[in-house]
Amino acid sequence: MEKNIVIIGFMGTGKSTVGSRLAQRLKRQFVDMDREIERIVGMTVSEIFKRYGEIRFRSEEKLMAQKLARESCLVIAAGGGVVLEQGNIDTLSQNGIIICLEATPNEIFERVNRKKGTRPLLKKDLKLEDIEEMLKARESLYARADYRVSTSGKSPEQVTNEIIEVLMVRRKE
Ligand code: S3P
Repeated sequence: MEKNIVIIGFMGTGKSTVGSRLAQRLKRQFVDMDREIERIVGMTVSEIFKRYGEIRFRSEEKLMAQKLARESCLVIAAGGGVVLEQGNIDTLSQNGIIICLEATPNEIFERVNRKKGTRPLLKKDLKLEDIEEMLKARESLYARADYRVSTSGKSPEQVTNEIIEVLMVRRKE
């Protein structure tokens, strides 16, 4: 059975956009973990945070990682904080290739600033330093990915092509 391809990375690095394109190109089913959690809980991620707090969201995220790790041949876009629970990467790695998308703090800031309302961890008066701080705190966790792909200055199409290239090289090895 083909392993899942799991896209991780900080908020605003393009996981969902690239993940869905990648799935189309590889003719695989695409699963966006946050959307799937929202479907199961019946609330948006923001509502879950607001009503029940981050702990509840993280617990749903952990359950979702366990559920998806039992499947195969999927392209999965994880939420940016999936790495916070160490066990999630172990779980998703059991049957998955982990690819981390990266971008510069500036680019992330520009991208998330446009869609802050849907991301409960980002304050209304978000500053570049807040992004830098969060990135620093999570750096070693994202480094656990099998592959890291920079998205800075690239279109989703270019990033998708790069991932396909990485996967092709891996197949030959
Ligand atoms: C989070 C990232 C979000 C979402 C939640 C928490 C994080 O997903 O899961 O708001 O902790 O980085 P995106 O990375 O898709 O924005």
